[in-house]
Amino acid sequence: MDFEKALSFDDVMMVPSNTDLKRDDIDTSNKITDNIELEVPILSSPMDKVTGSEMGIAMAREGALGVIHRNLGVKRQIEMVKKVKRSENWIIREPYTVTPDIKARKAKKIMDEKDISGLPVLEKGNLIGIVTKRDLRFETELGKTVREVMTSDLITAEPDTDIVEAKSILNENKIEKLPLVDEENRLQGLITVRDIEKKKQHPEATLDENGQLMVAAAVGPDEFDRIESLVEAGVDMIVVDTAHGNSKDVIDATEEIKGSFDVDLMAGNIATREGARSLIEAGADSLRVGIGPGSICTTRIVSGIGVPQITAIMNVCEAAKDKNVSVIADGGIRYSGDAAKALACGADAIMLGNMLAGTEEAPGRVVFRGGRKYKEYRGMASISALEKREKNRYGQDFESREEYVPEGVEGLVPYKGTVSEVLHQIVGGIKSSMGHLGAETIEEMRDAEIYEISEGGKHESHPHNVEITEDTPNYHWKGERY
Ligand code: XMP
Repeated sequence: MDFEKALSFDDVMMVPSNTDLKRDDIDTSNKITDNIELEVPILSSPMDKVTGSEMGIAMAREGALGVIHRNLGVKRQIEMVKKVKRSENWIIREPYTVTPDIKARKAKKIMDEKDISGLPVLEKGNLIGIVTKRDLRFETELGKTVREVMTSDLITAEPDTDIVEAKSILNENKIEKLPLVDEENRLQGLITVRDIEKKKQHPEATLDENGQLMVAAAVGPDEFDRIESLVEAGVDMIVVDTAHGNSKDVIDATEEIKGSFDVDLMAGNIATREGARSLIEAGADSLRVGIGPGSICTTRIVSGIGVPQITAIMNVCEAAKDKNVSVIADGGIRYSGDAAKALACGADAIMLGNMLAGTEEAPGRVVFRGGRKYKEYRGMASISALEKREKNRYGQDFESREEYVPEGVEGLVPYKGTVSEVLHQIVGGIKSSMGHLGAETIEEMRDAEIYEISEGGKHESHPHNVEITEDTPNYHWKGERY
């Protein structure tokens, strides 16, 4: 039997090269499909303790992309996608609306639930007013009908109003909301000061052609109802989320989804050239690479299956070269340097679970231990995640806890602040790497000279012969191997 050597992040190091690059010249943007370009080439993993709507919003605002997990019913997943799509769009094309004869209390409830401050009022499809939270400040107003409390003296604009015109109308009239109506006074959209302000705060945000944040969502290979609903809800990419992407059901699903829907598609997970070829042939736009490298994975230990991640990335990239398909390095990334190594080895973007699970926006509960703050994090094949799943990624549907054969663990990760703070450090590390390599773009990182390093080299790379007394935001001593 021939054994091929396989390497992972700790086994390799990139060699610095001569450069006159300035940090400002460095561009981390990269395309992951023909329609999706990320300023920050990072995706959040579709795991139930990593990506819900808050993570989706935070990632897209930073120029990255969230993939909403699928360990929940279709309805809730759709709500999450819609929440991301609606959270930041300078024109809301289909705003929530109310009719004039409902009670003001009900309108307030809708505004509270959807976290919005006003609702256009429609009668027989025509715009007749706007009701805002300000109209409903006093309890006495809540028993009245919307018609009695709404503002009916409206300033409106045409449907194709651009952002400059909109700003000047909002300013001149000192109003917060500008409904867009056609010649028949039918509502065609809504522009709000709040959304214009948000747009300014996040100049690198990942936006679709309507100015809405982009978001992806995970599905199982046999979940066609879920896929159809997600596409209808405006999801930007479907991620066929399985533990073994080089399998008939995933290959067939990839072909069928691309044949039936006009949507970008990522499929996986794979770790070989053969897996890449099958999914590329089936029509995938993006390949998700990683069998067993994840921080919460036990697949390699339980089954003896997997490919160390640097080798997996390089093999998949070799098969994907010049095929107009992107490669996403998923799992095992603990430091910004690992992210840089993945990109230099050919990945177009990286996917993170652990590094984001401790952030404010991750859905896990906050837990205190020994005076320190942590958040829950678990593998999607851990027992508790498998139990929650109606139909899981790992093909196990049992009645009792004892029957599951888990391939993941659950635990805690240190609380890390906001997604913005964490991404700042990771992108900072990637830029630092690009600076050392003299690479102005991600594409140029591929020219990096890479060494396999010795055990001694690994030890030398980490801080040594010192008791660290101050936490640093981008290096954690505790819980690591060295
Ligand atoms: P990190 O290292 O970022 O990895 O925490 C996240 C990735 O791990 C995968 N994943 C699993 N793999 N058992 C596995 O073998 C699991 O329970 C499990 N849950 C998640 C997944 O690819 C994720 O993006």
